[in-house]
Amino acid sequence: MPLVPTRRHFLRTAAAGSLTAVLSETLFAAEPPAESVTVRLDSEIGLVRPEFHGQFAEHLGSCVYGGLWVGKDSKIPNIAGYRRLAVEYLKELGVPVLRWPGGCFADDYHWRDGIGPANKRPRNVNIHWGGYVEDNSFGLHEFIGLCRLIGAEPYLAGNVGSGTPRELRDWIEYCNHPGGSSLSDERSANGSPEPFRVRYWGVGNESWGCGGQMTPEHYADLYRQFSGYARTFGGTKPFLIACGPSGNDMHWSRTFFEHMTGSRHPDGFAMHFYENGDKYPTQFNVDDMNQQFAIFERVQEAIVKQHALLDGFASGKGNRSGLLLDEWGVWDRMNPEEERRNGTLYMQSTMRSAVAAGLGLNLFNRQADKLTMCNIAQVVNVLQSMLLTDGPEGTRCIRTATYHAFSMFKAHRSKTSVRVETAASGPLDLSVSASRSGSDLVITFVNPRHDRDLRVDCALAGTAGAALRGAAAQVLHHSDWNAANTFDNPEAISVKSHPVQADGVKLKLDLPGLSVVTATVSLS
Ligand code: AHR
Repeated sequence: MPLVPTRRHFLRTAAAGSLTAVLSETLFAAEPPAESVTVRLDSEIGLVRPEFHGQFAEHLGSCVYGGLWVGKDSKIPNIAGYRRLAVEYLKELGVPVLRWPGGCFADDYHWRDGIGPANKRPRNVNIHWGGYVEDNSFGLHEFIGLCRLIGAEPYLAGNVGSGTPRELRDWIEYCNHPGGSSLSDERSANGSPEPFRVRYWGVGNESWGCGGQMTPEHYADLYRQFSGYARTFGGTKPFLIACGPSGNDMHWSRTFFEHMTGSRHPDGFAMHFYENGDKYPTQFNVDDMNQQFAIFERVQEAIVKQHALLDGFASGKGNRSGLLLDEWGVWDRMNPEEERRNGTLYMQSTMRSAVAAGLGLNLFNRQADKLTMCNIAQVVNVLQSMLLTDGPEGTRCIRTATYHAFSMFKAHRSKTSVRVETAASGPLDLSVSASRSGSDLVITFVNPRHDRDLRVDCALAGTAGAALRGAAAQVLHHSDWNAANTFDNPEAISVKSHPVQADGVKLKLDLPGLSVVTATVSLS
């Protein structure tokens, strides 16, 4: 319940008939003035690449096994082994790119373990995530099959920590060479005559940490060695992604690029930035929540600074690396009981998580000129996931509040982000982003305040004669930041249509405390 009475509250109280109460409430806590927002239609930032809404799936907890993959003989409804509901929900969401198999797991993964008849595949211990025995029943062909089913572009994370340049080179040939080589013929014999045409290749993951504990100098040497053999096969030029910094670690990035002098720079440079939370997901207090929201200012600073560094190293060479936010999302304290039941890093997503997702996605739109791809961690059951299943054996699968926040940003994809002016000056102020394509304009507002409803007056500027022909809006809101979609109440937080007034030159709408609102507008 908002602390400051709003217009709705005023009307409710008036309807209850106590004029004195109404007057005193009005005198002592008047409705806040409308927030002014101006969308500058002529001030373009850059393309909202669909890849800003990328996803990540690791062999960790119940993300892959029990989440995405249940096996062909499972009693859980499935499509050739893939959990049917997960496929349907992810298809509906639209997953532009899916990164796999890790994470930390990637630098202990040897791709040949995951091809050929499933019952002949080796069994290895997953040393990073709980020491369970991985039977490799979900391997490369199963991953590509999943990508094809949900319409995602595959992104394979290669092993530098414990792998070899040859292993990475051969993986690319196996995937992309059309036929006639032993590796491509082996792929064909394994059921896929058509090349997979995988474009995105990671060259190591968190090489400063679980991916080998390397110094940036050592990693740069290895990057040069590995990337030299990561070639174009069958016309698919690999887009090579180097391990970037943890958060805004400028030392890692600067030293890496200093050691790349004279060599081809990676196509992408991948930063990881998690927004940590101090409590179990459904037990946040206001301070915990606000502290987590405030981290997005640091994410923004990291994007701006890392991008500027990449620019500096690109000058004069035409050799420019794009910046990826390869792993991001809220990472709360884990509930051991939940993890025991549902797997490592199993985490509920609340209204607070959805607002955090909205803050992140708005930020990416506003920094669209600096980003190439952003992958939230992770797609099912792990960290800030889109979907939750009720344990590896459970048949139920629900969409989280974060799923719905992501769905509200779909309309921005492939549009051009334009500048928005607000009075915002702090992390808890109104967050807005807008994008346009021809006469279609999309604006997303995030109100991160739990204690204040906002009224917004949104004007359009910058294109003479452009007027609003019509508008529709949707809202994702719950006044309890710890509320979540559960197996008993799977739609507690879901997208609803929302009133919006369009009077020719202005949009007016209300943003309840803790909400994400997207307005889709047609311009004349
Ligand atoms: O997403 C979970 C883990 O977080 C990944 O395996 C690793 O890359 C990061 O530290």
